[in-house]
Amino acid sequence: MQPTDIPADATLPAQARALVAGEPNRVANLANIAALVFHALDRVNWVGFYLRDEQRDELVLGPFQGKPACIRIPWGRGVCGTAAATAQVQRIADVHAFDGHIACDPASHSELVIPLIERGRVIGVFDLDSPDADRFSEADAALLEQVVAALDLADKTV
Ligand code: SME
Repeated sequence: MQPTDIPADATLPAQARALVAGEPNRVANLANIAALVFHALDRVNWVGFYLRDEQRDELVLGPFQGKPACIRIPWGRGVCGTAAATAQVQRIADVHAFDGHIACDPASHSELVIPLIERGRVIGVFDLDSPDADRFSEADAALLEQVVAALDLADKTV
């Protein structure tokens, strides 16, 4: 489906599902999801993906919206590395109080990271940053987990 065909009043997960429907290319789909979410949410300064580098024990920058960001994040480091290593959503009200936080954009104050899980294995993370403290509620986390679920990762190539 083309972005122009997607009803603007559909829920965010429904828009995400419609955007990726029929397209197997993962980079294209991640790029469109990053753009969809970045423009749908208020008070966010960075939305995007880090993907597992299979050769090294690291995450590497993927499709995103926002300012240029750190390219590589060691597995287990920072908010993203912690989400990857634990396979748990990280909802951080104040990143400055998070031990090991990696400051890519000094404007970021709170952060939400959703692990991407394919056949039981973490293959990356979806990362959202906000300039506001405590921007992301539990409801936001649940909504964005549904957006990630819309990617239907196991069926995508590339
Ligand atoms: N702050 C993140 C690094 C990625 S940027 O926010 C885009 C972290 O601590 O993992």
